[in-house]
Amino acid sequence: MKSPIIVALDMGPNNALDLAKEIDPQECRVKVGSQLFTIGGPLVIEKLNDLGFDVFLDLKFHDIPNTVRKAVEATIKMGVWMLNIHSLGGKEMLRVAHEVIEKASIKPLLVGVTVLTSLNDKALKEVGLDHKTKDHVLLLAKLCETEGLDGVVCSPNELSILREKMHKNFLLVTPGIRSEEANKDDQKRISTAASAISKGANFVVIGREITSHNDPKGKIKQILETV
Ligand code: C5P
Repeated sequence: MKSPIIVALDMGPNNALDLAKEIDPQECRVKVGSQLFTIGGPLVIEKLNDLGFDVFLDLKFHDIPNTVRKAVEATIKMGVWMLNIHSLGGKEMLRVAHEVIEKASIKPLLVGVTVLTSLNDKALKEVGLDHKTKDHVLLLAKLCETEGLDGVVCSPNELSILREKMHKNFLLVTPGIRSEEANKDDQKRISTAASAISKGANFVVIGREITSHNDPKGKIKQILETV
């Protein structure tokens, strides 16, 4: 089986590669976000691929359609397994990104970010979005589905409603994962990996719970046992 765990390598390239050598590509995939990519660039993706990992490039592209088209084209050339764009970039931007993938000979998965798991109703209101978080996530997920994306990134709180409302192959990628006893850090809409998967998540993105653990490989195994 391919593991549902995606480890968020939120650190510099040396630490990320050291950690990647400790864990097993059969037991997890890895996520390269803005911190690691800003320092390590395409080379870090190449090295992670060489170590056998599927790489999710999490740069949440959010720009005018033409710029996103170019960014997605460049991402495809790096040989990533999955990439994301921010669904607040609008329908046209989503459509253009999907078109680029459709034309590629090797097609990475394309998912849309809905509402960051660090935000809640109050935080959305502060930026002028007067919707309930759940309604806003559903609206954005429907937009992504209509524009042909493979799925969305959403919090554990929206999994049940999205599993019910979206088509059955629509991928749900869920960060905000914490074990029962863990610290929430800056995440607000959280759950355990087992609960997220039982509610329909295809993939769980886990950062600090694994990367700050003194035995990351052991922690991955332990989480895999619970799912
Ligand atoms: O350390 P932690 O498990 O909180 O890391 C969660 C990861 O998921 C981070 O890399 C963060 O950038 C990412 N993420 C998120 N919420 C989203 C999209 C990505 O927390 N909506």
